[in-house]
Amino acid sequence: MNKRRRIYEGKAKVLYEGPEPGTLIQHFKDDATAFNAKKHALIEGKGVLNNRISEYIFAKLGEIGVPTHFIKRLNMREQLIREVEIVPLEVVVRNIAAGSLATRLGLEEGAQLPRSIVEFYYKKDELNDPMVSEEHITAFGWATPQEIDEIMQLALRVNDFLVGLFLGIGIRLVDFKVEFGRLYDNEQVRIVLADEISPDCCRLWDAQSGDKLDKDRFRRDLGGVLEAYQEVARRLGVLTENPRPRGAGPVLVTSNPINGKPN
Ligand SMILES: Nc1ncnc2c1ncn2[C@@H]1O[C@H](COP(=O)(O)OP(=O)(O)O)[C@@H](O)[C@H]1O
Ligand SMILES: [Mg+2]
Repeated sequence: MNKRRRIYEGKAKVLYEGPEPGTLIQHFKDDATAFNAKKHALIEGKGVLNNRISEYIFAKLGEIGVPTHFIKRLNMREQLIREVEIVPLEVVVRNIAAGSLATRLGLEEGAQLPRSIVEFYYKKDELNDPMVSEEHITAFGWATPQEIDEIMQLALRVNDFLVGLFLGIGIRLVDFKVEFGRLYDNEQVRIVLADEISPDCCRLWDAQSGDKLDKDRFRRDLGGVLEAYQEVARRLGVLTENPRPRGAGPVLVTSNPINGKPN
């Protein structure tokens, strides 16, 4: 286990070499970052929840024919994935005005957009992931026009599916960020959905109360981050057991003084 080669450590996950060529192990950490890692904290149990939530969503998307990197979950924090060449774009789909869109265009947070909007950001931490257009993407060769078309179509399919999935559990999908990669098998190259889909990269508002159930709780110091993620997991039906309460160490198995058996 410890001898695994670490390929990459990012802000929220670690990638290890997988058991077979072309595979990787994606390990979900408890680190929470915002504003390009200027803000950082550990939220104990977040990685476990994101692993489960992302597994559930990727598996469901696979069932409806969206190609993804997901193979299977390995344990509480790790999943086996196919290695892809990440397209260096953060693809954002928005249904409701919030965050940077609301700020830039002077829209009220919560305003319904006339239609779903897809945006591209160049994935480059040093530059704060600047927004880019298709012109930039093709001129600099980050993706071809055909790849951009495919990415937009997939992103909108993922959006349609997720809007319905979340509405069914009383949650409004405001917006989300996804990443895509090139999967090389044999002579073929396919664009597939990669990375993760979790409350770290979605805006999820409770349909009744409007409560935020996502990383904005962390960004905006609203508290209750873990509880919000737990609520999303619970409504999706993926919270099979209660994660250990915050700060709880390993559980001591004491013996029963009456019969001597472990309690
Ligand atoms: N299937 C995959 N193959 C290769 N790289 C991947 C795959 N899925 C996600 N990645 C990359 O792995 C990293 C995941 O770790 P993360 O902590 O999210 O990193 P970052 O801080 O760069 O966002 C990201 O850089 C993401 O682009
Ligand atoms: Mg990331």
